[in-house]
Amino acid sequence: MTAIIGAGIDRVDAALKVTGSANYPNDVAYPGLAHAALVRATVAAGRIRAIDTSAAEAAPGVLTVITHLTAPRLDRGPMTLLGPSPPAPIQDDRILHHGQHVAIVVADSPERARHAASLVRVEYETVKALLDLDDPRAEVTANPWNLDTDRGDVAAGFAAADVVVEGTYTTPDNTNNPLGLMSTVAIWHGDSLTVHDSTQWPHNVRTSLAKIFKVPESGIRVLAPYVGGGFGAGLRMWPHVILTVLAAREVGRPVKLVLTRPEMFTSVGHRPHSVMRFKLGATRDGRLMAIDADGVSPVAMEDDDYEPVSLCAATAYGCSHVRTRDRQVRLNIPCPGSMRAPAEGQGNFGLESAVDELAHALGMDPLELRLRNFAQADPESGLPWSSNALRECYRLGAERFGWSRRTPQPGSMREGRWLIGYGMAAVSYPAYQVPCQARASLHRDGSAFVRSAATDIGTGTYTVMTQLAAESLGLDVSRVRFDLGDSDMPYSPQAGGSGLTGALGNAVHLACRRLVGDVLDLVRDDANSPLRGMKLDDVTVDQGRVHRVGIPEQGEAYSDILARHGVEELSADGRSIPPRSEDLGMAVAGAFGAKFVEVRVDPDLGLLRVARVVSAIDGGRVLNEKTATSQIVGGTVGGISQAMFEDTATDRETGRIANATFGDYLIPVNADIPDIDVIFVGEPDPATPIGTKGVGEVGLVGLAAAIANAVHHATGRRIRTLPITIDQLM
Ligand code: MOS
Repeated sequence: MTAIIGAGIDRVDAALKVTGSANYPNDVAYPGLAHAALVRATVAAGRIRAIDTSAAEAAPGVLTVITHLTAPRLDRGPMTLLGPSPPAPIQDDRILHHGQHVAIVVADSPERARHAASLVRVEYETVKALLDLDDPRAEVTANPWNLDTDRGDVAAGFAAADVVVEGTYTTPDNTNNPLGLMSTVAIWHGDSLTVHDSTQWPHNVRTSLAKIFKVPESGIRVLAPYVGGGFGAGLRMWPHVILTVLAAREVGRPVKLVLTRPEMFTSVGHRPHSVMRFKLGATRDGRLMAIDADGVSPVAMEDDDYEPVSLCAATAYGCSHVRTRDRQVRLNIPCPGSMRAPAEGQGNFGLESAVDELAHALGMDPLELRLRNFAQADPESGLPWSSNALRECYRLGAERFGWSRRTPQPGSMREGRWLIGYGMAAVSYPAYQVPCQARASLHRDGSAFVRSAATDIGTGTYTVMTQLAAESLGLDVSRVRFDLGDSDMPYSPQAGGSGLTGALGNAVHLACRRLVGDVLDLVRDDANSPLRGMKLDDVTVDQGRVHRVGIPEQGEAYSDILARHGVEELSADGRSIPPRSEDLGMAVAGAFGAKFVEVRVDPDLGLLRVARVVSAIDGGRVLNEKTATSQIVGGTVGGISQAMFEDTATDRETGRIANATFGDYLIPVNADIPDIDVIFVGEPDPATPIGTKGVGEVGLVGLAAAIANAVHHATGRRIRTLPITIDQLM
């Protein structure tokens, strides 16, 4: 049999997607479906003085208009793995940010709902909004997750340093903007509820709705078989989902809400802007002696999101003296949330820019400086890494890129009017795992069905889990169906934090192994079976058969065993639990990466072009080179986008987002994206049975710094503020 894992297979859902047959939440239709539209606040802070819904209620086709005056009191959702739930919407007259939901209108068509929403008249009493990080009136909160770092003696470290660099780096608000507009369809059947939702985490939606609407979890089913991207926007259950469920109960019909693109900017989180300070000290020969880092980001008035932007400095390099501090400032803004490598995406830009500044100050090659400070062991715990191929990333990435052709002096490489710059950055992505469950069933015909309530946000989860199950059961992939996106399936955590492939993959693997064990149990005393009395370790699986290790003839097909024993279907559950460094005696490692970028700058016109990118990635075991490469390519596009394009602009007077459309919010087009070269290095990680480390976010991180560092090499100009715009290059 050819290897199922590695080079991999095409996406199992490819045909469904390209033929439009994959059912996304906003494709869902029901007889009698009603449609909702939102009314949002047009001021950033204050109170609703009056709200007049009479014109909206009288408009054609309108079924209901719900405001804070008519909505029931609802509990706040539960504490989750990712922090507290957002507060319940339309509970009182207070306005805490521009774009806050103030009413939901339901009508018999989307157009009539939207029209009626435009007829709702709201009068506000406004107060001066808090919109700036340095507003002295704003509350500053410490990071509640205890993620600050104090290691060694930072003052002594700097005292022993020959060279110190320090810089302030800022990143803007960015908006997740998955292509699929986030949608919810809610249907009540008596006291039970079905919800189709653009979520990255169906079980969280179920748990949250159960608490808020005071119904048992067993009465709620959340479906998300396809989601049009997430980028983190679907990690939390946001208030518009609650409003849709409330509206469906009110009108006694199924209700659909599809957020508009402008609503996507204020309703489902965003990457918060940050101001970061990184200070690095090193000896003349490039040994890092001390790192001191601070980060500040905004958070909403009554919601929570924590972005430890400086934390990446704690474990990226072997350095004995490190201090990191992250603080949040409460502002009148839509709540930030995780977006595409949250915190790392911002922090790595500051840290890896500062490392480049240090290399320049030392007169040392930036690659050499990083090699000299490679963290031999996990700097926090002192434990050896479960695996770390960062040096191979450096070596093979540099080789592929042609880093040795770089001449050190800024502005020294040129082609015609274009200044050429080579820049690089490193990534040490944190490991993230949470428990996950899966169930595997073997049918009498020898085919298998495996499932878990996970989501595939476009990353290839359906495909790699089909492969893993096929490998673990010894079946051809065509004999395995993997299903997901249904909260009635076994528990899965969110598709996020680069953690799902590991958590779910290990659960699938364990379920399949247990299933093979159950097959052996069937024949334990079976005189007709060549497998009689055998244990899991005695056998191997291949081509739909179980046989003795090394002796293919001594075995039999699943279908024969099940038929002989009159078993229609055999099922087994698997539950993965996160590997713990303390138990393993090694630090469970996340992915590593080295990013190399060539830019071209036209100094007269301020033009910046990314000409080439090489990403060398240690993601542990790669299950499917095609989908894993896609992840890194997609992340690279996101990184270029972060570096050069994306910038959510908020008007500092009104708190209104000024560019909340795809016409105004810049994202790269095909012509902005060069050849993207991806190399996977490293080995299966020994911390878990399947050996993956997660490649969801490591692709994005590092690009912003590598591009800014390349700009410095091209022009001698140090860019400390994203995005890199023409005015910074003129
Ligand atoms: Mo990702 S921002 O953890 O969906």
